[in-house]
Amino acid sequence: MNEDTAKNTTSQLEERLNRRDFVKFGLTIGKAVFIGGVLIGNFTGCTTASKKADKTKAGKEAPVKFVHITDTHVTFTGRNKTSLFEESFNIFRDIIGQINEMGDIDFILFGGDNINNTDPGTKGFDEFMNIMSSVKIPYFAQFGNREVSPIPPGVALSKEQYAEKMKGHGLDISSYSWSVSPVPGLRILGLDTTIEGHDNGKISQTEIKWIKEEVAKYPNDMIITLGHHLLLPTWGNRDIPKWKKKYLLKNYLEVNTILEGAPQVKACLMGHHHISKVQTVNGLHYIASPAAVQYPHAFRTITINDNEAKLQFHQVRNKRIIELGKHNLLTSKNAEEYAGGKADDILAYCHGSEGDNNVTLKIR
Ligand SMILES: [Fe+2]
Repeated sequence: MNEDTAKNTTSQLEERLNRRDFVKFGLTIGKAVFIGGVLIGNFTGCTTASKKADKTKAGKEAPVKFVHITDTHVTFTGRNKTSLFEESFNIFRDIIGQINEMGDIDFILFGGDNINNTDPGTKGFDEFMNIMSSVKIPYFAQFGNREVSPIPPGVALSKEQYAEKMKGHGLDISSYSWSVSPVPGLRILGLDTTIEGHDNGKISQTEIKWIKEEVAKYPNDMIITLGHHLLLPTWGNRDIPKWKKKYLLKNYLEVNTILEGAPQVKACLMGHHHISKVQTVNGLHYIASPAAVQYPHAFRTITINDNEAKLQFHQVRNKRIIELGKHNLLTSKNAEEYAGGKADDILAYCHGSEGDNNVTLKIR
């Protein structure tokens, strides 16, 4: 990108970002600057007064709209199971195509397991990024268990290698938990919930200390967390010990107490379990988003306007993939484990209800 193009891109993005006015949340920070979808700076000097002027000029506020995609598991080597690994790149291309067509998205959040990490070297990652090269808005990524558990170890990407390759998108080689403000007044905390070499998750004491510091540092921002593992069980009263161990963050109660106790934290975005579910505790919305690679093969958009968050559910457009995903889920181990032998309601569980998918949530 030459200098002029870079400047133009920056000023267009700045103009778009300046439309945002989160005065309600006592905006004090500056604006993030992105070039080619990569965060290159975060500057102070964007005052509430100037935003008010912009607001007057624009007449009406534009809402902030972003995407949460999780568990795309792209791979060249996996076979179709409950997760449709052989379709993983087709699904991902379909989803990115939809987002590019939307035209009103401010940024994308990836909830982890972007790559299945079972391809040798950087092959799967490179194709993931090749598809992302069509995306002209900022995007940020957190680790899933797959990105920290290469198969085979030493051949697929290590946690450190993945972080280095995702530099500029939240992660960095020495920064596994990250804090960015893609839109003034809105802050995303990327929480590393992973344990290297394992599928289950935990947040370390060092990271807990960091979360407390970040929350204290930005009392007037609206904060949304992005992490891979579940912070709440989503299976209601069913006792499924295997799921609790595999999907639920080990120290979720400790973490939730901190997040619920910080009123500026409004929502927690989660993945890993491949289901859609919204639960609200003490005004904090715990939002588990569906997987791309598994039925319902979907992602969310979230639109924030004043004190409301509008959730919308978008499925892959290819109906053949949805039918195949349904079939494979119905006959899966997950179906047995959920229903105790009767697989009839696993589709509804993974898909989520209208209250989980197309709903407007009040922001506390
Ligand atoms: Fe996962």
